[in-house]
Amino acid sequence: MNTKKRSLNVVYQIYPRSFRDSNGDGVGDIPGVIEKIDYLKWLGVDTVWFNPFFTSPQKDLGYDISNFTDISPEYGTMGDFDLMLEELHRQGIKVILDLVLNHTSVEHPWFKESASSRDNPRREWYIWRDGKKPGGKKPPNNWRAATGGPAWKYFANTDQWVYFHFLPFEVDLNYRNLEVKNTMLNVMRFWLNKGVDGFRLDFLHAIYEDEELRNNPFSWRLFPSDKSVAMLFDSHKYDLNLPDTIAFARELREVVDEYQPRRFLVGEVFGDIEQTCQYCGPENTGLNMVFLFEFTSTAFKPRRYARIIRRIEECFPSPNTPTYVFSNHDRVRFITRLSNNEEKVKLAATMQMTLRGVPFIYYGEEIGIPNVNFKLKNSQDPIGKKYAWSPISQIPGVGFSLSRDGCRTPMQWTDGPNAGFCKDGVEPWLKISNSYRKKNVAAEMKMSHSLLNIYRSLIRLRKTVPAIAIGGFEFIDLSGQDKRCLAYRRYYEDNEIHVYLNFSRKKVKFTPVLPIGNYHILFSTRDRNNELSEDGKNIELGSYEGIVLDTVEGKESDL
Ligand code: NOJ
Ligand code: CA
Repeated sequence: MNTKKRSLNVVYQIYPRSFRDSNGDGVGDIPGVIEKIDYLKWLGVDTVWFNPFFTSPQKDLGYDISNFTDISPEYGTMGDFDLMLEELHRQGIKVILDLVLNHTSVEHPWFKESASSRDNPRREWYIWRDGKKPGGKKPPNNWRAATGGPAWKYFANTDQWVYFHFLPFEVDLNYRNLEVKNTMLNVMRFWLNKGVDGFRLDFLHAIYEDEELRNNPFSWRLFPSDKSVAMLFDSHKYDLNLPDTIAFARELREVVDEYQPRRFLVGEVFGDIEQTCQYCGPENTGLNMVFLFEFTSTAFKPRRYARIIRRIEECFPSPNTPTYVFSNHDRVRFITRLSNNEEKVKLAATMQMTLRGVPFIYYGEEIGIPNVNFKLKNSQDPIGKKYAWSPISQIPGVGFSLSRDGCRTPMQWTDGPNAGFCKDGVEPWLKISNSYRKKNVAAEMKMSHSLLNIYRSLIRLRKTVPAIAIGGFEFIDLSGQDKRCLAYRRYYEDNEIHVYLNFSRKKVKFTPVLPIGNYHILFSTRDRNNELSEDGKNIELGSYEGIVLDTVEGKESDL
């Protein structure tokens, strides 16, 4: 296959704390990942994104960083990291690190200095302001933190407030200070010099704030959504997605473009698709990609999916690359949103793996780990702790839970003690899902149509079929059947494939665009014995079945 145009193919997200504990402290670690490289190779993923394992007090489980260029001891040493990078690269697997540019921990020496006095040389590294008059005992403006409540914390020693977008122990860096900006660009270079292949950029949309710190207009929105950053009655007009932040994306791209072979940036930016695509810039001169979270919250309906795909295709035409994400370490697990129905997950995975764009698989998604219900008062997650008083723990419909512990439970390797995540007798940092006796890697590897083997086959398909990996995309009109089904073609040079997906429990029958004889089955979520049609004319799809068909006729790619 011509791989020149290829970027990332399939990204697998590892939450290091929950992947594999090698030293018996109940916390997953880097040597544990090294033990599982064979699995990643077997699964076929070509890139791994790691949630942060840098030095941190772990109040936000690694996103509160106190040293950006070292490894937190519970995860291992820099030597372990170097070894892991080398081993992954030896297996042809790229490494993406999680870069938290927006904020530091309050335990970071920079912040401790900054907070110590008004005239400390690092004072301007963070955003300090006097409170509102009279008396200065009210926050400087009306901005709300993403987790609720005012986005300002008062420090009595200097009688000023400091700004944070997310949680009070994660304080925002001030990017209007050039020293801050250059220091953080050098953090990037530190890891790039080590050979990492790119970064996932945490909360990139929050980098710059309005210089005058103007009050945000009111919004009627209570809950966040993938269409708008407004939430908790705050429009976030002056603290998120500022033009300066969008311009900064291009500066970040210039840094990674200093390096060969090619490196990648994928941004976590919230807003509607029209807004987030600006981060990729004209002709993809900004971030290589941004996360598109629409699939994490939409209903399991073909028309809904079709609408999202259409908008994504309009906003991210080539040379931009869309991303397709079903869940991550912040969202309710995908299979739980689909009523724990594996057949639905197989179908959705077929769609995810055959669309134009990079699929992201969240560890455990491939074996069907469900969300686990934890009591908020026992939460490890700081959001769960903050809302420990709340009678509800899930926000219906939007794929969010007030504690993110439920989607972060340990990986299930076997049906043995602690699901093979840590040694017998060790208490894992989070309770393992009871599902592990049936849903585990060892068991699913042995079953031919297990969810795991379906994922593996789809990954292989993506790798070997150019039309899927790098081809163009077009919907197929199913006239009349589109309430239940979705169909599209992917094409590259003389390679064209057709994908037909049945989103209903009932069987569906339809006439495909080409005569049956022009098709060859590449993949089905079911065991079909290679038979496509009973009557030689129509295709019948079983309940929640997805099929991928190779065609004899081809079409020129527009890429
Ligand atoms: C977004 C990350 O995905 C989330 O896990 C984290 O808590 C916040 N950013 C703060 O860094
Ligand atoms: Ca450990």
